[in-house]
Amino acid sequence: MTSLSQSIQRIQPSATMAMSGRVAELRAEGVDVIGLSAGEPDFDTPDFVKEAAIKAIRDGETNYTPVDGTMALKQAVAAKFKRDNDLDYTPKQVSVNSGGKQSLFNALVATLDPGEEVIIPAPYWVSYPDIVNFAGGTPVIVSAGAEQDYKITPEQLEAAITPQTRWLILNSPSNPSGAAYSGEELKALGEVILPHQDMMVMTDDMYEHVWYADFPFTTIAQVCPELYDRVLTVNGCSKAYAMTGWRIGYAGGPEWLIAGMRKLQSQSTSNPCSISQAAAVAALNGPQDFLAERNAAFLKRRDLVVSMINDTPGLSCPTPEGAFYVYPDASELMGKTTPGGKVIDSDEALIGYFLDDAKVAAVHGGAFGLSPAFRISYATSDDILKEACTRIQKACAALT
Ligand SMILES: Cc1ncc(COP(=O)(O)O)c(C=O)c1O
Repeated sequence: MTSLSQSIQRIQPSATMAMSGRVAELRAEGVDVIGLSAGEPDFDTPDFVKEAAIKAIRDGETNYTPVDGTMALKQAVAAKFKRDNDLDYTPKQVSVNSGGKQSLFNALVATLDPGEEVIIPAPYWVSYPDIVNFAGGTPVIVSAGAEQDYKITPEQLEAAITPQTRWLILNSPSNPSGAAYSGEELKALGEVILPHQDMMVMTDDMYEHVWYADFPFTTIAQVCPELYDRVLTVNGCSKAYAMTGWRIGYAGGPEWLIAGMRKLQSQSTSNPCSISQAAAVAALNGPQDFLAERNAAFLKRRDLVVSMINDTPGLSCPTPEGAFYVYPDASELMGKTTPGGKVIDSDEALIGYFLDDAKVAAVHGGAFGLSPAFRISYATSDDILKEACTRIQKACAALT
């Protein structure tokens, strides 16, 4: 037994995590590299959340908990779904997991059989196709470029559905594009799904609270109540509460699916960290006003980056409505030559050039399934963003 399984051979390591690792290596070598590849807020976890965790340790909340979350946390999640999304989920319809990634992983592994298809709009979050592949399913990619604001249309969705379709994965606001669907747009997608009785929707609402649009955030089970029994609404504490390291994600959905996810988790990781669960209860039940303050800071950064990118020769991007990413289209730069004589024949080559010559780390569009483009994370200070965008502008201007 010297080889890896077929399921592990079907997946790739996360490209975003690989780039963050490369940045750390370069910095250790003393290179002044600006990292715009990390997908996490640069803010700290709020103090009241940290205090709740410290109290949980002092109170001895250090044992196993029920596999998919404490009753206190399931109730806090159910209350959150009601408060923010007008969705009714009982604690039995809630699963708490070690990060939103595990929520998605559990749901896909618990439901997919070989040959079943999952529709994934591109650009997509890097892990969706890999998790589908791992689970033995088949990703069906539907591309939505900058010209359609990185959002799929009902016609595209209809054309992608087959008798084998099991899921559509939605992610609004999106990582990597920041695009967000309005309630009307979600409803139109929902109406396409409605007649396909075996098809479900997994909505990844991880960036719900990083929101700038002039229309309200909505999620598909809310605007399409007829689909309620066929939707898994996934969310988590990582991005909203700057808690990426605490590893708490959660989902609301039909009881049979939540039970399947629990079974898988009971034979893999068991419960999410008990201390993190106590922290998550505080985050979800506590004051939410700091979210608006943080959004104001992100909005300023978004405007700075979007304007500097759109002033860069050969790059353009629509204005994102949420999350903390921009996804510039780099079509016009393909075929150009660097001062060192290298031809830019892909977005991977462009990102390599940015890293080597401009000392700026971004992630190439190929990792998100839509090229030629790249992702910038603007979860860093205004000064660093200004310097990074200036370096990108100079690098692009130097291409011939
Ligand atoms: C769209 C999206 N979904 C899910 C996740 C996973 O979140 P977590 O860190 O809670 O596992 C991320 C993290 O980058 C994300 O960007």
